[in-house]
Amino acid sequence: MTRRRRVYEGKAKVLFEGPEPGTLVQYFKDDATAFNGEKKSTVTGKGVLNNRISEHLMNRLTEIGVQNHFIRRLNMREQLIKEVEIIPVEVIVRNVAAGSICTRLGLKEGNALPRSLVEFCYKSDELNDPLIAEEHITTFGWATPRELDEIMNMSLRVNDFLCGLFTGIGIRLVDFKLEFGRYFNGDEMQVILADEISPDNCRLWDLETNEKLDKDRFRRDLGGVEAAYQEVARRLGIMPEGGPGDLKGSTAIQ
Ligand code: TMP
Repeated sequence: MTRRRRVYEGKAKVLFEGPEPGTLVQYFKDDATAFNGEKKSTVTGKGVLNNRISEHLMNRLTEIGVQNHFIRRLNMREQLIKEVEIIPVEVIVRNVAAGSICTRLGLKEGNALPRSLVEFCYKSDELNDPLIAEEHITTFGWATPRELDEIMNMSLRVNDFLCGLFTGIGIRLVDFKLEFGRYFNGDEMQVILADEISPDNCRLWDLETNEKLDKDRFRRDLGGVEAAYQEVARRLGIMPEGGPGDLKGSTAIQ
């Protein structure tokens, strides 16, 4: 088999050159990290589940007109995506107080926020993704005011849609992180949603019990990480027919 050129390796994913210009292959690893890579482990089957969950959510977003990088799933661990120039800003949308905002502002975890809150972090591992303001983004030219406007509108749209989708399957969308990129198509440039949407970058709580169904199970050593991700996939109706056993199969690239 010919090895494809590795374009980028992140903590949970690898990007390979795609079959056509302007495309990439996004490979989902089982690696799990937290606290900027300080805590590391592998969660068997996580990559397969995130590939499926992200595929499903990106497809639903395409249906409502939220442009994103997803083209199609290739196999258990890989999806074909549009190549974008990543905007170095992480967009965090919060509906309920949890995680870093609780320590930063002394809030009680679990309290609903008065309204949905959008925060920005500068995407830099060396600097530990510091919290920034809109002013930093435009001052340093990470995005133009117009791009930032689009990013804000798309993020709130994604939040409204996903809140409804998850409520329908008994899950509270507490918060999540999005990334955007510039997609160049001929002379045109468009800001589109990139990266992934999965329990790795969302907080998802059971509506009735508040049980955590996301990466906080790994961050906080709660156990049952894989089972929680499987439960999200099951409720979304995307568990493969053979059940979880099927998820261990086929790893196209090691
Ligand atoms: P935080 O409360 O730790 O700031 O996280 C907010 C949301 O963003 C949560 O759903 C997890 C997600 N997130 C990432 O996807 N990547 C990261 O590096 C961090 C810190 C958070």
